[in-house]
Amino acid sequence: MVFFEKEIIKLQIKTLVYRGYGLGFKQGLAIFVEYSVPGDIVDVEIITKKKGYLRARIKRFHKRSSQRIKPKCKLFGRCGGCDWQFMPYETQLLYKQEIITDFMNKLKGFQYNININKIVKADNTFFYRNKVILPVGKDDNEISIGFYKKGTHKIIPQVKCYLQPDIVNSIIQDIRIYCQIANISIYNENNRKGNLRYIGFRLGMKLNEIVLFLVTTLKKLPQITHLYELLIQKYPSIVGIVQNINTQEGNYVLGKSEKIHFGRSYIYEQIGNKKFKIDYKSFFQINIEQTEKLYNIVANILHKEHSKLVIDAYCGTGSIGMYCADIVDQIIGIENNPQSIIDGNENLYLNNVHNYRFILGKIKDQIGTVLSDKSVDTIIFDPPRIGIDKEVIHYVAQRKIKNIIYISCDPATQIRDLNILLKFGYKIENVYPIDMFPQTYHI
Ligand SMILES: C[S@@+](CC[C@H](N)C(=O)[O-])C[C@H]1O[C@@H](n2cnc3c(N)ncnc32)[C@H](O)[C@@H]1O
Repeated sequence: MVFFEKEIIKLQIKTLVYRGYGLGFKQGLAIFVEYSVPGDIVDVEIITKKKGYLRARIKRFHKRSSQRIKPKCKLFGRCGGCDWQFMPYETQLLYKQEIITDFMNKLKGFQYNININKIVKADNTFFYRNKVILPVGKDDNEISIGFYKKGTHKIIPQVKCYLQPDIVNSIIQDIRIYCQIANISIYNENNRKGNLRYIGFRLGMKLNEIVLFLVTTLKKLPQITHLYELLIQKYPSIVGIVQNINTQEGNYVLGKSEKIHFGRSYIYEQIGNKKFKIDYKSFFQINIEQTEKLYNIVANILHKEHSKLVIDAYCGTGSIGMYCADIVDQIIGIENNPQSIIDGNENLYLNNVHNYRFILGKIKDQIGTVLSDKSVDTIIFDPPRIGIDKEVIHYVAQRKIKNIIYISCDPATQIRDLNILLKFGYKIENVYPIDMFPQTYHI
């Protein structure tokens, strides 16, 4: 049977899949439905037809799933920040566990049992984000600051976001009101005119520090100094206010030049007995409590395997390796963001770590040199969502490294890379799912 766009179909949602969609079937065809829950019986409208599947949205409920709860946030379903606030946290975890298991079952040559551990749950399932970047726009002369609506560039103005600390919510409202009254020029991405584009926060959650950054198209941001003074007075945990200038069009948030208007451009964060300096431009894990649990798992593996010479690939500020520095003989971190390495070197000093060395560069250009030392026994990979560079995974696969710890925030690309390792004779011993992003489908 052929289905058409805008056609309405009655459907029962059977399960949830990665990227947050509910999945139902009609005449054997998979239909992915946004904001649906297994057990929902719904009329859906087809929004896109793809090869072998359809995407749809709910038009009418025949029966609401018993797994549904009332989301805390009034914007849920409109704002693209959360996907699963309409399910109890324990249910979210069950689906994440199932999704990971399904991914692992996709591994080719899966002839032995992989030990998939129970997902590590979060203790705090709201207000956990330590980094927030929000676009600023204007709608009918009203300034709006918030996440984009899912799949669009329409800003859904925030009032209180349940993923970010309340202090961020409060500062955002102060900035919005001030900019409205002071008539601050706001960037319009359609005609590429205007000045203020994004506002962002980097928080040291354990040490209670905030760096606020404003991204603008121009060097000048008239009439804003008074706002900075007000914020510094009202919020003593603001340790820095930075203006980042981004003249480029498109989706790159940060530009190359910056001006520090107050304090510093970095915060300090504490994980275990280590302290980390993190610039607002450097990568750092978003959920600090879960990060500590992740690092402990890595440390336990290194300890159990008696790792001595470790490569920390895609290392950012080197925090994973530094956290484990007491356990191993030597660590080499490879990272292509110079700011992360500047922070990383200061962190070595701050934590009195002497057995960690950074290399600045792309992994594919550096891996050959570091692996020329045959005593490398362990590689920790923690790549961005796109996964490990193709050349790198093939190169490492052939080198038969004793231990590989692959940390990933996208199981789809991780499976792609693991399949290559399996092809070259590696075995997967353990999978440790960790819920880094409660209320969202991300893992
Ligand atoms: C997911 S982050 C992990 C950072 C770090 N392991 C941590 O836990 O904080 C990925 C890091 O890889 C870096 N990166 C991305 N592509 C790279 C490449 N081709 N070569 C080297 N580093 C890269 C990014 O700048 C980022 O710091």
